[in-house]
Amino acid sequence: MITKNYHELPPLRSDMEKHLADTRAYITQMCERGAAEEMSEFFTRREDGYDEHMMQFAPCYDVTASHIPADCKNLLDLGCGTGLELDALDRICKRENRPFPRVVGVDMTQALVDQLYAKHPDKDITVKMGSYFEVPLGTEMFDCAVSVESIHHFSLDEKLPLFRRVYDALKNGGIFLQCDYFAACEEEVEMCEEHWRIRRAMNHDIGEDGFVHVDRPKMAYDEAAVLKEAGFSEVLYCTVGVEGTLLLIAKK
Ligand SMILES: C[S@@+](CC[C@H](N)C(=O)[O-])C[C@H]1O[C@@H](n2cnc3c(N)ncnc32)[C@H](O)[C@@H]1O
Repeated sequence: MITKNYHELPPLRSDMEKHLADTRAYITQMCERGAAEEMSEFFTRREDGYDEHMMQFAPCYDVTASHIPADCKNLLDLGCGTGLELDALDRICKRENRPFPRVVGVDMTQALVDQLYAKHPDKDITVKMGSYFEVPLGTEMFDCAVSVESIHHFSLDEKLPLFRRVYDALKNGGIFLQCDYFAACEEEVEMCEEHWRIRRAMNHDIGEDGFVHVDRPKMAYDEAAVLKEAGFSEVLYCTVGVEGTLLLIAKK
């Protein structure tokens, strides 16, 4: 596994022109297809074969799990879904003969969480069902918090209070591992925001506070700034071997 930590943002795409052309074509196709789906309905419809589909991001799970401190006893997982990052952590714990931590997950898609429980009946895992913007996360409870491929669905304004809550939920010295899809340039951010606006407006059933599934990647330096505004003292960028994806390591 090749990973590297940087203080400055590393390039995210090997061929920027092709990536922007592909993203533009994808958005055009999706706008023709119609309204954005509500978040948990989107994932529930795709529960069959979900883990196999997500294995295209396999290195993200291994890299994120490898950064969870070996002495972590209490772990928070935001948007845990079927728990692919927990599967990766389980492999590491078995290999290194160390205990699997107590885990509190938060997710809003019951069908995926059912799969997580079925995979790990022997572990101390509790998933709070609901939105991580609202579910109480506690105060100074966790040694480490992780989130993989979930928070990119939201705006920076929505992330600030969430990151503050994650900061409060961590013990002093704790770390937040935010592994996600990030934009390679400002043009990609704008295209994706426009995509979200158009297809959210097509969904006439979604309430003002409802979430739709449309990717809204941000520049990782903007996300790092929000993490710092939330209180984190240092944020590192870690490459994970998947184009367009980084692990942000935020230290309390
Ligand atoms: C792409 S999946 C990633 C799941 C898992 N971390 C993984 O990488 O396999 C995104 C997950 O985030 C959850 N999610 C999205 N928005 C959420 C929110 N506001 N609160 C809680 N969970 C949310 C979805 O239900 C879904 O399980």
